[in-house]
Amino acid sequence: MTARAVENLNFEDFDPFSVEFRNDPTAYHSTLLENSPAFMKMEGDVASAYVAKFEQCMQVLGNWELFSSVKPKNLPGMQRVDFFNGMPVMNYSDPPQHDRLRRVVNVAFSPGRVRKLAEATDTIIDQLLGNIEPGQPFDGMQDIAKPLAVKVLFDEFLGIPPEDQHIFFEFGATFFLLDKLKPGDPKPKEYLDGWAKGEKYLRGVLAEAGKNNTDNVLSLIAAASESGTMSDAEMMAMVCVLFTGGVPTVSAMGASALHYLAANPEIAERIRQDESVARPFCEETFRLDAPVTLVMRFATQDVDVGPRTILKGMPVYTMISVANRDPDIYENPLEFSVDRKNMRHLAFGNSTHVCIGNAITRMILPKLVVEAAKRLPNLHLNPEAQGEWETTPRSRHRLKVPVIA
Ligand code: HEM
Repeated sequence: MTARAVENLNFEDFDPFSVEFRNDPTAYHSTLLENSPAFMKMEGDVASAYVAKFEQCMQVLGNWELFSSVKPKNLPGMQRVDFFNGMPVMNYSDPPQHDRLRRVVNVAFSPGRVRKLAEATDTIIDQLLGNIEPGQPFDGMQDIAKPLAVKVLFDEFLGIPPEDQHIFFEFGATFFLLDKLKPGDPKPKEYLDGWAKGEKYLRGVLAEAGKNNTDNVLSLIAAASESGTMSDAEMMAMVCVLFTGGVPTVSAMGASALHYLAANPEIAERIRQDESVARPFCEETFRLDAPVTLVMRFATQDVDVGPRTILKGMPVYTMISVANRDPDIYENPLEFSVDRKNMRHLAFGNSTHVCIGNAITRMILPKLVVEAAKRLPNLHLNPEAQGEWETTPRSRHRLKVPVIA
């Protein structure tokens, strides 16, 4: 990116991390879509681009050679998003390193494993919905969606017992401290202590998991560590990637699904009549409430996208949740409809980095929706309580979903 080439660009006054955008993204959508791709100055002075149109996002996500996932170390702001202690993780690697890391756990996401997890999921949903009294108010997130995601993904899939999970929740809770770092600042002590604690814990349980050779992900990671494919720090990074990638997103989508079910009683009735309607119902939930709102790439050379040229070295903010409302792709994009002809969306990304957990998520969510529709036939929004949202720079999801059974 030469200074001269940058001088010729028009920069928009837009910051995708700003609280204004995060709190009210819909207000920005039409401008972002009309101008996409466009340029902006991030982190003070870093010439960056965003892409918001669906097809442009597909182009960026579909070509890792032109749009790399590896974060440049010297770029201001990157120290704030190094959640995995500088370790290479699949999300932020390009092939072939990406493929090596993805292969270690890939088998855990195979159709056979997902079917096995489905049995446990049925039992967990049955227990959670069994706790809900007809006519009583409850919170779709805290009472159902969050415990569902934790039990299916943490207890069953990862194989970390409930009494030990606090190690990872506590570590995850230190991530916000990274947001305050300036380039060159050391990592905060709480973060490093949390990382060390997690690594020590995993060393112990992975030794056992290797011996027991169970079906969960920890035993796959243990096998990789025994064969020398992964170091201790890489194991810790992998567990954190699976935990941070899966638990918050699946809870978010469970909460959203319960919201849309309560808000659309006529669709709930269609699901009771025909369970297959739960699939488009969930896809529409993913499209409209995509919890990962944007993903970043870095241009490896000058690339034409739509009417503009994105310059080599530019960080590219790929605006998934805006692309999911592109009117060139979706008729009445803001409407929740289970009858769309086109159910394609970018909530799980696309191509090389397409979400490894998408089949698991697409197994869990329709089960929840079908069971909730059947067992809570009078489910409706609670008129006396307000829903709440939570945002981080790259995610947005419902925090409270007040409903009445
Ligand atoms: C509704 C639920 C979920 C959503 C919306 C979601 C979203 C995403 C997105 C957008 C990406 C692409 C990131 C990129 O292109 O840079 C991704 C990748 C990934 N997701 Fe998910 N995710 C979900 C569930 C899960 C689950 C359940 C797991 C694990 C148990 C998981 C683990 C991962 C991993 C490891 C990657 C990186 C894949 C790679 O780089 O090859 N996700 N996810």
